[in-house]
Amino acid sequence: MSKKKIHIFDTTLRDGEQVPGCKLNHDQKLKVAQQLEQLGVDVLEAGFPVSSPGDFQAVDMISRNIKSPVICGLSRAIEKDIKVAAESLVHAVRPRIHTGIGTSHEHIYYKLKTTPEKIIERAVSAVKYAKSFVEDVEFYAEDAGRTDNEYLAKVIQAVVRAGATVLNIPDTTGYCMPNEYGEKIAFLRDNVIGIDKCTISTHCHNDLGLATANSIAGIENGATQIECTINGLGERAGNAALEEVVMVIKQRYEQQFKIDINTRLLNPISRLVSDSMCMIVQANKAIVGENAFAHSSGIHQDGVIKHRENYEIMNPIDVGVDKSKIVLTARSGRAALAYRCKEVGVDLAKDELDILYPAFIKLADQKKEVITEDLVPLIESSIGSRAISF
Ligand code: KIV
Ligand code: ZN
Repeated sequence: MSKKKIHIFDTTLRDGEQVPGCKLNHDQKLKVAQQLEQLGVDVLEAGFPVSSPGDFQAVDMISRNIKSPVICGLSRAIEKDIKVAAESLVHAVRPRIHTGIGTSHEHIYYKLKTTPEKIIERAVSAVKYAKSFVEDVEFYAEDAGRTDNEYLAKVIQAVVRAGATVLNIPDTTGYCMPNEYGEKIAFLRDNVIGIDKCTISTHCHNDLGLATANSIAGIENGATQIECTINGLGERAGNAALEEVVMVIKQRYEQQFKIDINTRLLNPISRLVSDSMCMIVQANKAIVGENAFAHSSGIHQDGVIKHRENYEIMNPIDVGVDKSKIVLTARSGRAALAYRCKEVGVDLAKDELDILYPAFIKLADQKKEVITEDLVPLIESSIGSRAISF
């Protein structure tokens, strides 16, 4: 069976940068964009050009400097937005305008204060206008997650006829359950004429912690592009995390889907984005958190030391982490202590370990973590310097 290519659309510099406090200067944006290019993203959403002169310049700068991915600029379904987006993309090798409008009951009646029919007219005009500048036009049906499927199919049918090349079905409010989101994509796939000539895209927010699961449900049902951000940054609870969707595909869908991401760059780029956006990555964050490959309880440590795969489903090297960590705490057992002593050059005999262990536990009860700097003096004071061989 030939593998279906899943396109990775990164929106760290647009949806991610919308987060309060995450604003980057131009040098930082360029650095992140260069790393995203190295990582192998297929599409890079560089900003929302009409929103400010700074954003316009950022999209222009990225269009001039980043050549491999498609460069995308966001717009509302408004002529001025689309024209400005087109201007910011003139130097891109492969420019894409991303335009769209709200389609849920809430957005139609309470945000845009209009009617379902008018929304379709505006969506069609926006796509046609964007097509007058570029061939590649992505349409987003904002709040598609809460949009009635029959109506959503009408909107999508109209924009397909107007020439949209990519159809973004955002779960803007992070409302959908994975089965509902999957069914939505399948409904469109089965009911919109000509949709097979377009790319269906997921764009899932994480309000209920389901962004990754929903994105995967999307590709299981016919989507072939996932919109995501490094470290899951984005409005409110964020977007689907790029590192998560990529590793889910690598680990669990190897036979079905293909992606062109250099996964060894996942941790370095996570740190770059975290440092430049001043957004700490939580320690227990999947793939890129400090503890993603750290083992601290005695049972787990013993298992990992015997055979890493006992407690790890990924090789840390594959995501850019040198190796798994055995963290010494009051929950650690003898196996972990012996392992860490060996790491600092001390190969303990059984009777030496018996002497050292109680002293270690006493210290570990006083400290959150026993670090290498604690270990050497502890060995010296318990069993003497003869054991230290470095
Ligand atoms: O969440 C959303 O709906 C968006 C669109 C602008 C694509 O970010
Ligand atoms: Zn979004």
